[in-house]
Amino acid sequence: MWVGLATGDPRHHLRRTPVTTRRPERVKRIVVLTGAGISQESGLETFRDANGLWAHHRIEDVCTPEALARDPALVHRFYNLRRAQLRDVAPNAAHQALAELQAASRAGTWAGTVTIITQNVDDLHERAGSTDVIHMHGRLNSMRCTACEARHETTGDTTPATPCPSCGRPALRPDIVFFGEIPLHMEAITAALTTCDLFVAIGTSGQVYPAAAFVDLVGDAQTLDINIAPSEISTRFDETRLGAAGTLVPRLVRALMEAQHVA
Ligand code: APR
Repeated sequence: MWVGLATGDPRHHLRRTPVTTRRPERVKRIVVLTGAGISQESGLETFRDANGLWAHHRIEDVCTPEALARDPALVHRFYNLRRAQLRDVAPNAAHQALAELQAASRAGTWAGTVTIITQNVDDLHERAGSTDVIHMHGRLNSMRCTACEARHETTGDTTPATPCPSCGRPALRPDIVFFGEIPLHMEAITAALTTCDLFVAIGTSGQVYPAAAFVDLVGDAQTLDINIAPSEISTRFDETRLGAAGTLVPRLVRALMEAQHVA
């Protein structure tokens, strides 16, 4: 593991033997873990950077089961605002590049598969064209009924009095995994991680588990971390590339496509 800056371009670290060219024939099953950093260039604030969401809101006020029980109106308002923000943003080059790689896989012009696991609750991967995105921390555009467990697509505002469209009871909550709750789809995530050839983390600070431990679950897969700055977990990856996701992810995708192109 070597983290450092390449001469000439201080934003881009290049490992001596970049992981994707080390054994390109082995890179067939790719798992990508995205965090708030991939949506930063779309205009969505991250959580822990200076001026991030958690600099302005206390987690224990808006993102715990206790907060929901104590002041549900505040929790609904917080997620209403974040849901409304989605209308003003669009996917960026990083989301688009990952979607293009998946499209090439579906079309058979690229001989690999890409599983996207995201900690993000926005819908920017889907709006870029990605499919089967695993939202381990839930989604802003979904509400869950705590009475009947039905989930409902929601793009507008809700209050604690909003009736569940399925059972009619006023028991909807944001379909978000709060601190202290168990992330979603862990079985599918573990299966993907333990069978991949390349694990790429993009724009995540590595401060929230279990996602921060995914790099340790991938067996002998190659591991690559893409971040604007070294994260808490960068040293656990084979390679770290420092720079904006909107620049480095399209570059990675081009390299992968060239390595596995099917004529
Ligand atoms: N390109 C690449 N990386 C970036 C960019 C960018 N343009 N902008 C910021 N980053 C990096 C930051 O350096 C930081 O390491 O993105 C990371 C964002 O970290 P966090 O704000 O902690 O977001 P994330 O890791 O996704 O948080 C995990 O914490 O609060 C919970 O549930 C919430 O899913 C979230 C989880």
